[in-house]
Parts: sequence; C-alpha cells; structure tokens
Amino acid sequence: MGSNEWKVKVVLVTGAARGLGAAIAGNLVEAGARVVLTDIDEAAGSATAGAMGAAFFRHDVTSEADWERVIESVVETTGGLDVVVNNAGIETAALLVDCELRDFQRVMAVNADGCFLGTKWALRVMRPGGASGRGGVVVNLSSVAGLVGVVGLGSYCAAKGAVRLLTKSAALESARLGYGVRVNSIHPAIIKTDMGAAVVRSMTELGLAPDVEAADALIRQMHPMGYGRPEDVAEAVRYLASASGRWVNGAELVLDGGLTAG
Ligand SMILES: NC(=O)c1ccc[n+]([C@@H]2O[C@H](COP(=O)([O-])OP(=O)(O)OC[C@H]3O[C@@H](n4cnc5c(N)ncnc54)[C@H](O)[C@@H]3O)[C@@H](O)[C@H]2O)c1
Repeated sequence: MGSNEWKVKVVLVTGAARGLGAAIAGNLVEAGARVVLTDIDEAAGSATAGAMGAAFFRHDVTSEADWERVIESVVETTGGLDVVVNNAGIETAALLVDCELRDFQRVMAVNADGCFLGTKWALRVMRPGGASGRGGVVVNLSSVAGLVGVVGLGSYCAAKGAVRLLTKSAALESARLGYGVRVNSIHPAIIKTDMGAAVVRSMTELGLAPDVEAADALIRQMHPMGYGRPEDVAEAVRYLASASGRWVNGAELVLDGGLTAG
C-alpha cells in the first residue's frame, strides 16, 4: 500500500525496460509515486511502462542532449522531479590482456558517463532555483564490483568504482552547497537478470569454469545467502529515496548477503 509521501513524488528510473530497473519502477508505482521509465530499448521500455500504467521516454544515458530533453519533459509534464535512479548499465566480460579499448570505453560510457550525466542533471534541476527546485534524491547503481576486483570484469569494476566515488563527491557537494539532494550508491552482488545470467555464462567463455552448471555452482557458493532478487534492490531504493533515509547521504548500501563481508 502506498503512503502519502510517495503520492507527491516524481521518480525517473533509467534502464527500466527490464531487470532491476523494471523492478525498481514497479515497486515505486505500487508505492504510489508518479514514475517515468526510460531506456535505450524503446519497444521493451514502452511495453514495461505500459503494463505499469507509467510513462516512458526513449533515452540513451550516454547522451547529454537526451538527458536535457528527458528531464525537461518530465518537469514540464509532472511539475517537478524528486528522485533519479541511475540504473542503466552494461557489462562486458574479458580478461584484461584481451579486452579491446572500445569495449572498455563503452562500459565506462554507459555505467560511468551515464551516471555522471544523470547525477549532474538531477542536481541542476532539483537544487534551489532549478526547474524543479524542491530538493530530492539520487540513487546510483554501482555493484559489489565497485568495491572489490573481479576476474574477467576489469572494465565493469573500473566503471562501478567510478560510480561509487562520483556518488560520494556529489553527496558532499550537494550538502555543502545546500542543494537539498541526497546522493547514495547501491552495490548488489549477482541477481539473475539478463545481465546477471550473462556474468555467470561468461565464466565458461573465459575458461574459468568447464560449463554453465559449474559456473553457476561456483558463483552461488561465493554468495553466503544465495543469489539476490530484483525486489531486494527495489526495496533498498525505496528506503533511500524515502523520508526514512533523510540522514543517509554519500553512503554505499551493499546488498550481497555477506559476499564482501569477509
Ligand atoms: N544483475 C546483477 O547481478 C547486477 C549486480 C550489480 C549491479 N547491477 C547493476 O544494476 C543495473 C541494472 O542491471 P540489470 O541486471 O537490470 O541489467 P539488464 O541488462 O537486465 O538491464 C539493463 C537495462 O539498461 C538498458 N541500457 C543499456 N544501455 C543503455 C543506455 N546507453 N541508455 C539507456 N539504457 C540502457 C538496457 O536496454 C536494459 O533494459 C546496472 O547498472 C548493473 O550494472 C546488476
């Protein structure tokens, strides 16, 4: 059941056509928020948004022109913007000795540049005097791969590590300059979305496991509480973006069942 708090909030979730973004958007629609889904995949994005009765915009998070257009349209049509969830992301699996520069740069572009642009435009529009101007919350999707290194995921780790410290800098800047915007990062371990399943498969492609079943067993064993669920991430976003999280700023919320605790 939604609270009155959510009924007055406008939320933008990037990369929301599927996976974690769709779960986050669905959770917040259920809470009563006015949610706008965006994604580079127009067909899947509009279908997902349509099923939730939410709005959809085609949006490539690596394009600043797209950010300007989308944020302007959201504020124009809803009267403001309270929460931006920078969720869009990609991964590529390769040993560093084999990783092509263009693949590294693409992973940095979507995960790190995308998060930078989303944080920048959220702060601009939410700070006092901005087009929305009533403060707000930014939640950035990093990963456990933004906290520790992972064999075969060097590019992804570099990008998610960048997201972690971009988040902390934004949190400090916003607090010091009185923007009224809290900025936090979330660090999930593996969840079997399209991306999560691809990470498991990549173990075999990199020669780190003989087959997918063995890769799955190996990765499952690394997770003390098993794989996470999209809802685990959605609930964490809902907490960070709610009034209950009012003193949480620049934090890294680790959702990994204890994977990185040891
Ligand atoms: N699934 C996991 O195990 C896991 C773990 C830790 C962190 N994450 C992070 O969570 C986020 C969501 O992951 P997911 O598992 O749902 O991935 P996913 O691959 O299932 O979905 C990602 C979505 O992002 C969209 N996207 C890709 N490039 C884009 C671009 N340039 N602009 C806009 N949208 C774009 C895709 O179309 C897709 O709909 C990502 O940032 C990912 O790195 C995922």
